[in-house]
Amino acid sequence: MPWPRFVPRLAAALVVAASLTSCTASSKPKPAPRPPSQEPTPAPTPAPFPALVPLPVSVRPGDGAPFAVSPATAIFVQSPDPRAMFVAEFLAGLLTTVGPVGPSVTQMGASIPEGSVVLSLDLDPAAGEEAYDLSVASTGVSLKASSPAGLFYGVQTLRQILPPILEHDAARPRPIAIPPVRITDRPRFAWRGAMLDVARHFFGVEDVKRYLDLLALHKMNRLHLHLSDDQGWRIEIKSWPNLTAMGARSEVGGTVGGFYTQEQYKEIVAYARERFIDIVPEIDMPGHTNAALSSYPELNCDGVAPPPYTDIKVGFSCLCVSDERTYGFIDDVVREISALTPGPFFHAGGDEVKKLTDADYAQFINRVQDIVERHGKRLIGWDEVALAALHPASVIQHWRPGTALGAAAAKGSKLIMSPANRAYLDMQYDPASFLGLFWAGRIEVRDAYSWDPATLMEGVGEGSVLGVEAPLWTETLATIREVESMAFPRLAAIAEVAWSPQAARGWDDFKIRLGGQGPRWQAMGVNFYRSPQVPWRP
Ligand code: ACM
Repeated sequence: MPWPRFVPRLAAALVVAASLTSCTASSKPKPAPRPPSQEPTPAPTPAPFPALVPLPVSVRPGDGAPFAVSPATAIFVQSPDPRAMFVAEFLAGLLTTVGPVGPSVTQMGASIPEGSVVLSLDLDPAAGEEAYDLSVASTGVSLKASSPAGLFYGVQTLRQILPPILEHDAARPRPIAIPPVRITDRPRFAWRGAMLDVARHFFGVEDVKRYLDLLALHKMNRLHLHLSDDQGWRIEIKSWPNLTAMGARSEVGGTVGGFYTQEQYKEIVAYARERFIDIVPEIDMPGHTNAALSSYPELNCDGVAPPPYTDIKVGFSCLCVSDERTYGFIDDVVREISALTPGPFFHAGGDEVKKLTDADYAQFINRVQDIVERHGKRLIGWDEVALAALHPASVIQHWRPGTALGAAAAKGSKLIMSPANRAYLDMQYDPASFLGLFWAGRIEVRDAYSWDPATLMEGVGEGSVLGVEAPLWTETLATIREVESMAFPRLAAIAEVAWSPQAARGWDDFKIRLGGQGPRWQAMGVNFYRSPQVPWRP
C-alpha cells in the first residue's frame, strides 16, 4: 500500500513547488527586473534524443523496443568492489519510483534474469579509467567500465536519459521506459573542475554537498575549495586556533562568517569521494591573507595585527616572507589540511601579490613548494607561480587572459585552464545581470562554451593541458541559490569543454542539448539563468 509513503512527499512537493516560484531564497532587496534582451528568445526545438551534456564520444540510438523499468527490475553489480556497489545504489535511488521499494541491488549475482540492469568492470582498461560503455535494449541494460568511476559516469548518462521528473523529491511517475541506445564514452581531460570561494561568503556543509551533487551530474571530478582570503579563514587548524576563532567571524559586507571543523571538512571530502570528486584545498598565500594576519600579529612584519576586512579590494595583504615563523605557520597548515585530504594536490594560491619583488615572490613559492611536497602533495598555484622554479609535478592554474605560459609548458609544467573571460562563473552574463562582477568581461553561455583549451595559448597544446576548471568567486554571492544562478547553465558548458571531443562539439547542437537540461534542473530545484541564447525546453 504505497499511500503512506507518498503523503509526506506530496507535502514536500508543494514546498518545493512553492520555492521554485520565487527566484531567490535570499532576503536581499529585489533587483530591478531584467530589461528585454536584444536577442530574440529562440522557439523551443525538440531535442535530438538523448539530450546529453556533456556530449559523449559516440551515441547510437537503437531501433528496438524500449527497456521497461518495472517493480521487478533488478540491478546486478558484477564486481566485489564496494565503490561499484555504491554506484548501483545511486542508480537504484534514482529508480525508487517503480514500485513500493524500488529495484533490488545484488552484488555478484549467480544468475542474471533477462530484463536486468547489469553493471560490470569488464571494459578494456585501454579505453581509460573513466571510460564506460552503456547499452540499453528491450532485453536489459548493460553498463561496463574498467573502474567504478567509469560506472558512475555511465550512470550519470543513463540518468540524463531517464525522465527528468525522477529528480524531483516528490512527484514520481511509473512505469518508466528507456529508449534503446548504445553509448561509448571517455573524457577528453583528466581534470574537470569547479572552484567555490567559501572565503568571501561562507557556504556551509549542506551547500557544498549540493554543489557537489550538481558537479557529479555533469561528470566533473574536482572541487577546489578556496578556503582562505582577506575576508575569512574557513577551516579549523588545531595548531593555530585563532585562525577560526577570530579569522572566520565575518565575511564580505560584515555579515556573520563561519568555518568547517576538521570533522566537517572530512564529511565534505567523503561525500565528494562517493561521487568520484577530489576536494582540492586552497590556502591562498602570501597575499589574500588578511584573515590570518588579523588573527596572529606574529605573521605581520611589523608585529601588528590589522583589523578584519569586509570589503572586496585585493592586493593589500601579505605574509611576512622574511620571517621564519611564517614558514612554521605554513608548514602546520599544510600538514593538517594534507592529512585530511586524500587527493594528491594542495593549492597554495599565489595570486595578486603586490607587496613583493618578483625575486622575493619566487623564493617564497619555491619554499612553499618544498613544504607541500614534504607533506606528500603536489603544488598547484595561480598562474603567477610560473615565476618560481616549479618542479614538473607542480601545476599552474591559468586565469589571467593574455598571460603567456608557453615557456612554462616547454619546461614540462602542466596547466589547468581557467581563463577569467571564459571560465569565471562569477562574471556577469550581460549588462542586465544584477549579481556578479565584470572586470574580465561579460560571459554569456556561448562565450563560456566556444573555446578550445588546447589552442587558447601559444605553446600550450593538448599534452600540456591537465584540464579545465570553472572558478566561482563569491564577493557578490551570499546564498547557494545565487551561486546556482551564476553557475548554471555555464557550468554545464565548461563541463562539456572539459569532457567532450573538440571536433564533435559545436554551439548549435550544444544549445539544443543544453535547453533539454532545463526540465531536469527545474525538477532538482536548480536556480538556473534562463539565457536568451538557449531554446529551453518547457
Ligand atoms: C584570481 O582570480 N585572483 C585567481
